[in-house]
Amino acid sequence: MPDPRKIIIDTDPGQDDAVAILVALASPELDVLGITAVAGNVPLELTQLNARKICELAGRPDISVFCGASEPLNRKLVTAEHVHGRTGLDGPTLPQPEMQAQSQHAVDFIVETVMASDSGEITICALGPLTNVAMALQKEPQIAKNLAEIVLMGGGFFEGGNVTPAAEFNIYVDPEAAAIVFNSGIKLTVMPLDVTHKALASRTRVEAFRSLGNRAGEVTAELLDFFERFDETKYGTDGGPLHDPNVIVWLLEPNIYSGRRINVEIETSSELTLGMTVADWWRVSDRSENCFFVRNLDDQRFFEILTERIKRL
Ligand code: BDR
Ligand code: CA
Repeated sequence: MPDPRKIIIDTDPGQDDAVAILVALASPELDVLGITAVAGNVPLELTQLNARKICELAGRPDISVFCGASEPLNRKLVTAEHVHGRTGLDGPTLPQPEMQAQSQHAVDFIVETVMASDSGEITICALGPLTNVAMALQKEPQIAKNLAEIVLMGGGFFEGGNVTPAAEFNIYVDPEAAAIVFNSGIKLTVMPLDVTHKALASRTRVEAFRSLGNRAGEVTAELLDFFERFDETKYGTDGGPLHDPNVIVWLLEPNIYSGRRINVEIETSSELTLGMTVADWWRVSDRSENCFFVRNLDDQRFFEILTERIKRL
């Protein structure tokens, strides 16, 4: 097997972030250098706590968890307790973690680790608002040259938004940070709602996690039982979309996805469409391509990969 791919997971857990972290920690193809928490679904005190709970659930108290930004670059934090519950991880009962958060700030960890790495060695997997990543780019613009790529969950074009008619949550919370990342010149792969809305955690799929016979499978089912109820009602589907694990599965089996290299710009000023990802899917502008924008996946294979990985924990 080739050397595992080195990744930093930047995240705001969140039930779907938690599933993404579990899958990453269960995958020998990936070497998780650290987890950087950001405020998003719930405030930072909870996202960093939740990240530690998930590492311990995965049997990986050795993973370093760093606390990052508690507020977006220049806006008030918007959270999503109506989706994720008061704790951000409502559903299962998880013990208070014994592992501590690192004292180093998440942004310093990202800068130091990326600057000390060889060019093209480290990939950032961004599962929440892009505040930490943008702050790292502001602090040390040279990281853009050293990073292999950023794979992120955020945005939506054909599906519209999920927090306003035009905007997806991660981009909406910190549109200025998103604009910095999309204009950074770093190789970017984007998992927007257009693809994650096709990854539905149906009843049968949730039951498959529950019957794995391990605690991680049981917890995954309980997380999804809680998380999906909101979207099932909203969209009227059997199961709600499972967003963030797409970032990790992309690294494991990119051939189950399809998309296009296009230009995407972020709306940062309009009140009506703040945080919109203006995706030039039909290439009607002369703006240059800045990301690979994913639109479709083999959802059956996606869930097979998730269950097969979570079974290993
Ligand atoms: C994104 O927002 C959060 O609620 C989820 O964790 C995911 O990252 C989906 O819009
Ligand atoms: Ca998230």
